[in-house]
Amino acid sequence: MSSFAIALLDRLPAPVAVVTETGSIEYRNNAFEESFGGNAATWLNQAARAVAGERGWLQGFFLTGGDEQTTMDTDISGRVYRIDKIMNVDGEARSVALRFEDVTAQREAEQAKSDFTSMIVHDLRGPLSGIQGTLEFVLSQEGSKIDSMYLDLLTEAQRESERMMNLINELLDFSKIESGNFVIDPEPVRVEGILKRAVRSLQSVAQRDDIFLLSAHPRDIPQISGSLEKLTQAIINLISNSLKFTPKKGLISVGAQVVRDSDQHPETIVVTITDSGMGIKSGEIEQIWEKYKQTKNKSLRGGGGTGLGLYIVRQIVQAHGGRISVASVEGVGTSMVVTLPVKRAAA
Ligand SMILES: Nc1ncnc2c1ncn2[C@@H]1O[C@H](COP(=O)(O)OP(=O)(O)OP(=O)(O)O)[C@@H](O)[C@H]1O
Ligand SMILES: [Mg+2]
Repeated sequence: MSSFAIALLDRLPAPVAVVTETGSIEYRNNAFEESFGGNAATWLNQAARAVAGERGWLQGFFLTGGDEQTTMDTDISGRVYRIDKIMNVDGEARSVALRFEDVTAQREAEQAKSDFTSMIVHDLRGPLSGIQGTLEFVLSQEGSKIDSMYLDLLTEAQRESERMMNLINELLDFSKIESGNFVIDPEPVRVEGILKRAVRSLQSVAQRDDIFLLSAHPRDIPQISGSLEKLTQAIINLISNSLKFTPKKGLISVGAQVVRDSDQHPETIVVTITDSGMGIKSGEIEQIWEKYKQTKNKSLRGGGGTGLGLYIVRQIVQAHGGRISVASVEGVGTSMVVTLPVKRAAA
């Protein structure tokens, strides 16, 4: 590094160190010295070495070809640091200049906020299921003397409370994802069962909206390991999107296929949800996975949604080791493709 660069870094208030791939410190500025002192060399070295079979986090900064990490959070002796790569430094050894920022307080505040959100959202569910139960009871009374006007109003109330329950469940999942508490309890699940449940639960909505909803799949889909509840929720979410953005007389098809390897072992299950809806503009397609992001598409059925749906769906699919992608042509339709791995039974 030039003496000019060193003079500059020495004056920087943020801790900066130039570190080699193996964790030796080639340079540290004054702020770094003040923050970490003599211990720094020890933990950087530890960090550089493989931890519990995984690559040491430092390695991420040395990957190339678009895979390299430019920022990460790391726990160092009980505190959380956000580490940013400022630049690659050319010298005898490969090294990078890293800036360290203590974000412990910030992360704790985020955690507290998200714990609070999950608590509130969770507590909202109790009274709402009470309301739903009551409505259901009133509406299920055979030969009731309820005036047809009140019947319509009660049915509307039931539909709205259903929407609110979905929203609450979505927010609950979201806050779990954000706080890192989103885990699935894997059990053997049948994909046919998931598709059947999802399609059945939305069939009446499809009929009401005059949309043809069908599912087709081979009979011998192997079981996978995952959460029946979460996967069903993900598929329901995808079909609901199709229902929102497909006009009357449209078609939504839900299909599954088994992809086998050369030994005929089932390797992956590909689930597709295809609609003849309005499609997504190519310029907007990347953003649909982001939280709170919606495109300019207007829902055809009211109920704007939050834009969390696909973000959560992707997290669910990824938690199962799978992937999700989209293909869409504006004015023609959209196809969501979910790939789930079938784990080979241990020999
Ligand atoms: N099948 C589809 N056809 C057309 N546009 C779609 C389709 N699926 C998703 N989109 C677009 O992607 C956006 C994001 O979808 P996402 O499910 O995340 O949010 P949302 O449906 O708007 O709200 P939420 O699911 O939280 O109720 C939608 O607002 C819509 O613009
Ligand atoms: Mg949605």
